[in-house]
Amino acid sequence: MTSDDPDPDPAPEPTTAWPVGLTTMGFGGDYNPEQWPVETRLEDIELMAEAGVNVVSLAIFSWATLEPREGELDFGWLDDMMDRLHAGGVRVALATATASPPPWLTRRHPEILPQLADGTVLGQGGRQSYAVASPVYREYAAKMAATLAERYGDHPALALWHVDNEIGCHTAHDYSDAAADAFRVWLEARYGDVESLNQAWGTAFWSQRYGSFDDVLPPRTAPTYANPTQQLDFARYSSDQLLSYYTLLRDTLRPITPHVPITTNFMAAGSKWMDYFAWGAEVDVVANDHYTTADDAERHIELAFSADLTRGIARGKGWILMEHSTGAVNWQPRNRAKAPGEMLRNSLQHVARGADAVMFFQWRQSKAGAEKFHSALVPHAGRDSQVWRDAVALGQALKALIPVTGSRVEARTAIVFDYASWWAVELDSHPSVDVTYPERMRALYRELWNRGVAVDFVTPESDLGGYQLILAPTLYLVTDEGAANIAAAAERGASVLITYFSGIVDQNDHIRLGGYPGAFRDLLGVSTDEFFPLLAQESVTLDDGTTADVWTERVRLTSAGAVRTFTDGPMAGGPAVTRNAVGSGAAWYAATRQDAASISWLVGELLAESDVEPVVVTSPGVEVVRRTGADGARFLFVINHTDGVASVPATGTDLLTGTDVQGEVEVAAGGAAVVQEA
Ligand code: GLA
Repeated sequence: MTSDDPDPDPAPEPTTAWPVGLTTMGFGGDYNPEQWPVETRLEDIELMAEAGVNVVSLAIFSWATLEPREGELDFGWLDDMMDRLHAGGVRVALATATASPPPWLTRRHPEILPQLADGTVLGQGGRQSYAVASPVYREYAAKMAATLAERYGDHPALALWHVDNEIGCHTAHDYSDAAADAFRVWLEARYGDVESLNQAWGTAFWSQRYGSFDDVLPPRTAPTYANPTQQLDFARYSSDQLLSYYTLLRDTLRPITPHVPITTNFMAAGSKWMDYFAWGAEVDVVANDHYTTADDAERHIELAFSADLTRGIARGKGWILMEHSTGAVNWQPRNRAKAPGEMLRNSLQHVARGADAVMFFQWRQSKAGAEKFHSALVPHAGRDSQVWRDAVALGQALKALIPVTGSRVEARTAIVFDYASWWAVELDSHPSVDVTYPERMRALYRELWNRGVAVDFVTPESDLGGYQLILAPTLYLVTDEGAANIAAAAERGASVLITYFSGIVDQNDHIRLGGYPGAFRDLLGVSTDEFFPLLAQESVTLDDGTTADVWTERVRLTSAGAVRTFTDGPMAGGPAVTRNAVGSGAAWYAATRQDAASISWLVGELLAESDVEPVVVTSPGVEVVRRTGADGARFLFVINHTDGVASVPATGTDLLTGTDVQGEVEVAAGGAAVVQEA
């Protein structure tokens, strides 16, 4: 299967797409009882009840405990935990225990170890030390998944299968011999014959022509730039290969437990290499992990981006926040704890944007191992701690939000997100290393966030029918179908924005000839014959006094008009931002990297033209999101990230406090309200 082809053998449907028996807002986290003595495990069950925890992920890294020597199984402790959790009213997302192969396995079969492009073999002793393409590893992993399914399939605590863990997190690309074999199989399925591969890869260049698929290798470290389409196809193959590992385990579990939904946890926003739009179609429920970056002053906006992207991957349906942190992580250079109220605000942000479960890594902070300084719901200090009090308060807040469960977020603005475009635009030997993805997307998103405008994330080929405003930043690679789909949206009345270095290549990374931006030239009514990227530290001025950097190009207007021009720089006097009337809509082109003020102006124009309104009028730093139930119930989330009191128009009941709201809800600095609107 390739990312462009439909799955020839769709997986059987699950009987439910939501954790069995989880009927309210989920609350819990990764639970690793094998790290603790029995007394602590008993205390865990009591504390879970105290906090209102109703779901945990169990056995994620348990293989070496469950099978300490090959074939010698020790399930006693897990049987006991499943029973105790069930008795405590806690549902279990049971993992396949495959996230880290046990030491005996890598010693016995060193060929399962993954390999870097330079030939370095990644050893055992950390985690995820397996080559996802290794038939040997796959056989062992599937066997462990089947063993767990047979043992616990009928256990009353079992609510969800958690396949592996953050698949591809550390080893998104494996260049081992097993990977080389699997890559060739993937290429044969994509191209059929080697001549088609030669065409697609443009191998007439640099004597790269292949006479046989047998001669093809992954893009291992070479004397200079590897073939770009080989690199792009390897990225596609790698995403598909990791996904096929998930589907192997899913399809192992499904026949044994058809009544239990199956998922794996994604890292949307944080990860470049997994095409989660394709992956989202293969899980029964989308689950996502998200961690904020301590030194990002706008990390709450980055969080919102992640949550909205996750909802896009879930095609608008409810999703599970499978992991975030109560406080510090252990893997940033300086790991600062969260500010007072920040953990609650973070949790509510995810819920506001579609999550129906809030879970953490992890339940109890480890005493040993690489993650002992990573925060948890139960910290090293124990119950007498701010973290624990905050955890209990969150449990209460999530109980108060039970009416929100199952409601959805609606948006009239879409941002086009495409993983292949990300992989391709960041390949080497391009006009400027400063053109990256999703940098423009985040800049546009930030402006929409500040204005309280709801945004969906879609792919170029998605149904765009419901959107009045469509933003397609840095869509370097686009298929004919995707380009036509975006153009059709403008024809029927939407406003479309395309930013520089979009529409440049087709799916093979071949230039669309005849003037840039090839795929969007007609839509935009412009044609560019040459790029003039700016040098480091260089900037230019636009005719409204705002500035731009990174990029300029010589834009010729064919049918568009110039809305902003450059007043200096290599393109002085030339168009910087253009608008073309198209059918009942319009297509705008941003030919430079505008500063925040210029982006704000542009987004203002686009919103006005497309009649897109904010959820409610808000001020910067005050987040507003509405969820709407199938029965029409409306829930307005107001999350105040500022140091001052915020007032937002609303009428109804604040579910968090139970108080009546008449005309306006006042939210304290750093506080939040969730108004069930009257
Ligand atoms: C990831 C993993 C967890 C843990 C956390 C730490 O999300 O899935 O096992 O390592 O990171 O932040």
